[in-house]
Amino acid sequence: MQPTVIAPSILSANFAKLGEEVDAVLAAGADWVHFDVMDNHYVPNLTIGPMVCEALRKHGVTAPIDVHLMVQPVDRIVPDFAKAGASVISFHPEASAHVHRTVQLIKSHGCQAGLVLNPATPIEVLDWVLEDLDLVLLMSVNPGFGGQSFIPSALDKLRRVRERIDRSGKAIRLEIDGGVKADNIAEIAAAGADTFVAGSAIFNAGDYADVIGRMKAAVQG
Ligand code: DX5
Ligand code: ZN
Repeated sequence: MQPTVIAPSILSANFAKLGEEVDAVLAAGADWVHFDVMDNHYVPNLTIGPMVCEALRKHGVTAPIDVHLMVQPVDRIVPDFAKAGASVISFHPEASAHVHRTVQLIKSHGCQAGLVLNPATPIEVLDWVLEDLDLVLLMSVNPGFGGQSFIPSALDKLRRVRERIDRSGKAIRLEIDGGVKADNIAEIAAAGADTFVAGSAIFNAGDYADVIGRMKAAVQG
């Protein structure tokens, strides 16, 4: 199990003052910045791209930027995100014609590579590629929007992926994304997640330090 990471999803931040919002969640105890990229093609929504990632780096953000690509095709945007300062780049296997090649492409650009499993994607997609990954991201909502409810079957899926990661003996993170709140994060952690994305639960709270503190306390039991 890797050290706990709380990664606020900036999808729920105030985009009119994004730099300040990111500074504020990091000052409040967040570890990573979760950066949701949607293309109105692979998912029914349109968000932000490499220019905004680069702008956050120029603004002075030094924390890891965790890029969640919900785009198709994947490969041609990878070098742009690497250049823009992405730390981790994760993608959906359904959006890439050659999953193994995309993983190698991400790593060849000096970033960590993650594979994202939608709620209905079987975990067998991890066969033959798990040991090359730095991170597995399980979706506990269908991708495209913030503020949806956690799908309970994700807990069993987390336990099964945790088993596989442990069996591999590799330092692979297990990240969960969608509907994570201070009041359900303890059972999500118990199921095996070590990296927690939370958008609306953090950015809709008045006091970022309070909610992030409660999340960390709940994970630590
Ligand atoms: C959904 C995104 C999530 C989203 C999570 O497609 O990948 O990162 O921002 O938002 P909440 O935490 O509100 O469910
Ligand atoms: Zn995400």
